[in-house]
Amino acid sequence: MSQLDRYAVLGQPIAHSKSPRIHQLFAEQTGECLQYSAIEVPAEQFTEVVTSFFANGGKGLNCTVPLKELAWAYSEHKTERAQLAKAVNTLALQQDGSILADNTDGIGLVTDLKHNHGIALAGRRILILGAGGASRGIISPLLAEAPEQIVIANRTLAKAQQLATEFTGKGRVSACSYSDLNGQSFDLIINATSSSLTDELPPLPEGLLANQGSCYDLAYSNKATIFVRWGLEHKALKSLDGLGMLVEQAAEAFTIWRGIRPKTAPIIDLLNAERH
Ligand code: ATR
Repeated sequence: MSQLDRYAVLGQPIAHSKSPRIHQLFAEQTGECLQYSAIEVPAEQFTEVVTSFFANGGKGLNCTVPLKELAWAYSEHKTERAQLAKAVNTLALQQDGSILADNTDGIGLVTDLKHNHGIALAGRRILILGAGGASRGIISPLLAEAPEQIVIANRTLAKAQQLATEFTGKGRVSACSYSDLNGQSFDLIINATSSSLTDELPPLPEGLLANQGSCYDLAYSNKATIFVRWGLEHKALKSLDGLGMLVEQAAEAFTIWRGIRPKTAPIIDLLNAERH
């Protein structure tokens, strides 16, 4: 009997990861036969684990915190969006034996915003809070949707300026500090800081969210995050967390690996129903 094709998500910590569940549900839905596991990998063992996974017949990997930048550095063959993101979340064995590196986070966000929630991006003013790895991964896919402008606000202004400079050739993107946000308003505010995890919010002035504007937290949690609650309190049309993005980035990776796109809506509905 032939062995099942093997996939895995690598990270540290990894026990909480929903990826094995999501990919198992995709496999059942599409009739694909595969095995997907979660492997705890400290940064210093990353190269050894990835090399041995593929040498032993593995077909594809997802990489999550804190390994996405290492996966980028490891990979010789990258998609343009991965190249720009300087972070990789998907590795795929190719027919010629090479390994293609991609970043499906940004496209996962765009799909969730546009297709799942009907939030338009073209011609809109978008504010990204934070200038770390999570922000870097979403900027070029968002710019590709032709927003009027993307502003990156960060506590450490120099990091936001550095990011804006890297992406200026791709569209209208600028940087500012939180105090510069006074008097500005945006149609979509995306929280890409890690502050939700510690139940903190950057200082956000009144009037920041435009009438009929929406909020999106890249983080997700069984309970509404502090930023999702901020959006609701400020009359956001939609105030969402990153569960949909998680499922959509996984669907993109699954499509790269298997050549078949799973339907995400029933999986998102299922995971939402399990939140308590
Ligand atoms: P990630 O890969 O998740 O983006 P990161 O690269 O460590 O993680 O970046 C974390 C981001 O959250 C940064 O933009 C950080 O701001 P600084 O660059 O000024 O450190 C931001 N951040 C974390 N905690 C924050 C807080 N309490 N208030 C505002 N910004 C915060």
